[in-house]
Parts: sequence; structure tokens; C-alpha cells
Amino acid sequence: MKIKSNFIAVSCILVTCTMLLSFSSRKDEALLAAPPNDTLKLVVPKGWPKPVYDFTKNPITREGFELGRKLFYDPVLSQDSTISCSSCHLQYTNFTHVDHALSHGIKGLKGTRNTLSIINAAWTKNFMWDGGINNIEVQPLAPIQSPVEMNSSLNIILPRLNKQEYYKKKFKLAFGKDAEINSQNFLKALAQYMLSLQSFNSKYDQVMRKEAGVAFTEPEKRGLKLFRKKCASCHAEPLFTNNEYENNGLAVDTMLKDGGRAKITHLVKDSLKFRVPSLRNVELSYQYMHDGRYRNLQMVLFHYNHSISNTINLSPKLKEPMNFSEQDKNDVIAFLKTLTDEEFLHNPKYFYQKD
Ligand code: HEC
Ligand code: HEC
Repeated sequence: MKIKSNFIAVSCILVTCTMLLSFSSRKDEALLAAPPNDTLKLVVPKGWPKPVYDFTKNPITREGFELGRKLFYDPVLSQDSTISCSSCHLQYTNFTHVDHALSHGIKGLKGTRNTLSIINAAWTKNFMWDGGINNIEVQPLAPIQSPVEMNSSLNIILPRLNKQEYYKKKFKLAFGKDAEINSQNFLKALAQYMLSLQSFNSKYDQVMRKEAGVAFTEPEKRGLKLFRKKCASCHAEPLFTNNEYENNGLAVDTMLKDGGRAKITHLVKDSLKFRVPSLRNVELSYQYMHDGRYRNLQMVLFHYNHSISNTINLSPKLKEPMNFSEQDKNDVIAFLKTLTDEEFLHNPKYFYQKD
């Protein structure tokens, strides 16, 4: 992990031993010496805004994070104990599902949207494609209660967890010796794990930090220039989203009839607008768009270049044609691939752990 001095550690996210050991300054010795259940540090990379999440109410601790990780990987959360959060949010594919457009829940039931990634969630104001949920601590209730995802409820899950000595112990370790297995602690633990999914060590990040021995290739450089001109007004650096709702000219899917943001606000001006997704690790998070209609980045670039539909709320930013040449499209794709953060995608601290 190449965290350099230009990163400042502010408030609070987890830093596990692997990360700790690779820090190299005096500051890190202080971290290592921290009591086991002390608040761990969130790394706010240089140039990033302040996190949106208020960690004072739910500081991330090693034990809370570990409990959240266990719950995230536990199929016992679903009605028939077959589906876990990780069934649809796989680390290797940027915490999205692989290879299909719409998510599949229990009994193979098909949902109506493509999975969103959970990375850098501490910076997310509103969750879901339509921004319908504004707190990561209540978000899990949506997949848990959805009849086509987990078809379960806290009334089913909490008694199941209470039957396991393992969880009784883990909840106490995470939230104090009198802590119960209740909805609040359950949701806090899941939030701690999800908030810790931080990705900021792609080639792009390393080049921006001017790290020795890392440089963009010529196509990547050209791609970045085009990206900043044509894409960054919505997919804004450094998070690669402006966290706004936009319509990017996808032809309306008359089967799904998904109104997007208007589902929440009931306003015509929000019809067919969706949250701008981050493009970090986008190389691996196919399929693309809220309905997963595009299988690869070539199709996405084809869309922006040639198939923008003049929908009622099409963003004015996309009204001018892109006029990309074949080379331009390939260059933008080359740049997008520099957003892949292998270290994050393979970081063992996020894996399922047997204990
Ligand atoms: C059956 C597949 C499936 C399962 C199981 C599932 N999710 Fe999701 N998840 C999705 C889909 C699809 C979306 C996008 C939903 C939408 O926009 O309406 C999503 C969105 C999210 C988001 C919002 C991310 C953002 O930036 O807006 C979070 C957080 C999340 N899921 C966490 C979880 C957790 C925690 C669990 C387990 C309790 C879970 N998911 C289980 C499919 C799934
Ligand atoms: C007007 C704002 C806007 C501009 C400009 C824009 N996008 Fe998007 N982009 C969006 C929105 C909104 C979505 C989600 C749309 C949906 O699913 O309905 C999206 C989705 C994507 C996705 C799919 C990501 C995923 O995880 O599914 C990719 C890839 C993408 N855009 C790349 C680009 C590139 C490359 C450019 C420049 C050529 C660009 N975008 C320009 C708003 C924009």
C-alpha cells in the first residue's frame, strides 16, 4: 500500500493490521499502539472532500467492522438462507454482481435494477439509483425486505442471530459487554463494514499523487483530456461522480418503466433521471447502467457518441454530439481502465473470514 505523506488521516475509518504494518512514519506507531477497540482512522486522501457520513455516531472499530463483515457474507440474512449481501456485491467486481443485467435474489427471482457498487460510501449522500435512501444505516432494510432479493426481515434475522453463541459474543465485543443483538447494533455493524470499503489506489490516483515510476501512457493521457472535456461535468474527480441525478440519454425501457428519481420525488422534472454512478473500478463492474443494458465499455462509448436519445429530461451537457473518433473512444476507455484499483479489489481485509 503506497500511502504517502500527502495523505492525511482525519476522523475515523478502519485501518487493519495489513495496512498498519505498511505505514512507515511515527504517526503509524501511534496507530499501532491504539487500544484494540479504539476508533480507527479514516484516510481522507488529499484533494477529496470531507466524508458525508457522521462517524461520531458510529465510529468504526475493528470489532464492529469484523462483525459487519461477517453479517455481509452470511446467507442467514435471507429467508431461505441462500443469499447474502455478497451474492450481489462481490469484491472482485467492485462490490457489484457479475455478468448479468438485473440482480437475482432468492429462488432465482429477478430484480428490476442492476447492482450499484458500495465503494467510498462514506462520501455518498443518497443511496440507490434514485437516491431514495439517505442513510447507510437503514439501507440494508431494502434488500433484506425486498421479496425478490432476500425476502426476509429483522423479525426473522435477529432471533436467528440470537441463537448463535458466536454472534452473542461478537455483538458484545463490538458494542460493549451489555450490548444486545438488536436492530440498531446489527445495522451499525453492517454500516461499519460498508463504510470501510475505500478505493483510492488506482493508477490514476498514483499518477495524481506523482508517485515515482508511475506515468500515464499516451492513449491514457489523451483519454483523460477527453474525459475532462466530455464526461467529468457529471463523473467528477476525485470520486468520479457529482452525486447528482441526470438523464444521460438512454432510450426508455418500456418493459421496466423505471422513472428513476421521479419515483421518489414524483416530479416531472426528475423523470428518467438516475444517480450519476462513480466510475472507479468501472472496468470490472459490467454490466453497465441502472438496468445493466450495456455489456462492455465499448457499448457505453458507442452510446455517448452515437445513440443519445432526446428524452424529456436529457441533460443539456449531452445535447452536443461527442464527435469521438474510433481512437478517441479507445483512449477514453484506456483512461477509464486506469481507475482500476487492484489492491482494493484483492484486499484480504474485505474477504470472508472464517473464525
Ligand atoms: C439480489 C441482489 C442484492 C442483494 C442480495 C443485496 N443487494 Fe445491495 N443492491 C442491489 C441492487 C440491485 C442495488 C441498486 C438498487 C436500486 O437502486 O434500487 C443495490 C444497492 C445497494 C446499496 C446502495 C449503493 C449506493 O451507492 O447507492 C448498498 C449500500 C447495498 N446495496 C448494500 C447491500 C447490503 C448491506 C446487502 C445485504 C443486507 C445487500 N445490498 C444485498 C442488489 C442486491
Ligand atoms: C450529464 C451527465 C453525464 C455525462 C456528461 C456523462 N455521464 Fe456517464 N452516466 C451518467 C448517468 C446519470 C449514468 C447512469 C445512467 C443510468 O443508468 O440511467 C451514467 C453511467 C455511466 C456509466 C455506467 C457506470 C455503471 O456502473 O453502470 C459509464 C461507464 C459512464 N457513464 C461513462 C461515461 C463517459 C465515458 C462519459 C463521457 C464520454 C460520460 N459517462 C458522460 C451521467 C453522465
